[in-house]
Amino acid sequence: MPWGADAANEAAAVIRAKLRVGSPVAAIVLGSGLGDLVGRLRDAQSLSYTDIPGFSATAVDGHAGTLTVGTLAGREVVALAGRFHMYEGHVARAAAFPVRVMHALGIRTLFVSNAAGGLNPSFEPGTLVLIDDQINLTGQNPLTGPVERGDLRFPDLSAPYSPRLQALVVAAAKEVGVPLKRGVYVGLMGPVYETPAEVRMLQTLGADLTGMSTVSEAIVAAALRMEFVGVSLVTNKAAGLSGEPVRHEDVMVAAGRAAKGFGELVERFVQLL
Ligand code: HPA
Repeated sequence: MPWGADAANEAAAVIRAKLRVGSPVAAIVLGSGLGDLVGRLRDAQSLSYTDIPGFSATAVDGHAGTLTVGTLAGREVVALAGRFHMYEGHVARAAAFPVRVMHALGIRTLFVSNAAGGLNPSFEPGTLVLIDDQINLTGQNPLTGPVERGDLRFPDLSAPYSPRLQALVVAAAKEVGVPLKRGVYVGLMGPVYETPAEVRMLQTLGADLTGMSTVSEAIVAAALRMEFVGVSLVTNKAAGLSGEPVRHEDVMVAAGRAAKGFGELVERFVQLL
């Protein structure tokens, strides 16, 4: 199958051929507007997604589309700035392919971030939220089809976000003085933002955050038994909650404002690993 274990090995070999990669302690996926973190990496070496087989160029504003290897807090990491999303026409297994590639590089710890709309009325724009659990409403699952080598057929999702890594994120946030809430993330296909009626539905379903990424990545990570943790940046109140329309430009501005606290949080997290 495309975007499976063999393709991941091939992509990992290309990355190793083009960049010096040792044994990174983690991969970090950077959501919309959060790509500034790459600037914190030392000895950075970058590769465009267009040079990695199986990766797609990212066409969305705020998503650079580069893989960078470097050190953060003195420890080697891989940063993925930008995603290819299902709403751009990618199937779930393609959207989650970078997770397989990180696994093929020998990485077992994944920190993901995203921009999300706040469903929980107490989440103001600019709030960082540790993802506690997820609801996959994208309408697809990245594991459908034959079982990939190394995958579980029926992965357990009773703790898709690693309690061990969550504790480290909480400790890191406390140490750098960044307020952190917790909540459930619901992933939808997009590209539209929700209607107010959908927002009420999602609140009723138990979600605190809504976005268009991440859930497929968490599922592939579970199938590969990787440790996975996620942080959402609330860039806006979900539709109907503020009286304002939801606009991608505002999402980007809010992400830019939160970049410093987010960067400090991630750097301390890596130090604590
Ligand atoms: N809904 C869905 N995805 C989002 C939102 C939103 O309100 N804000 C940022 N990503």
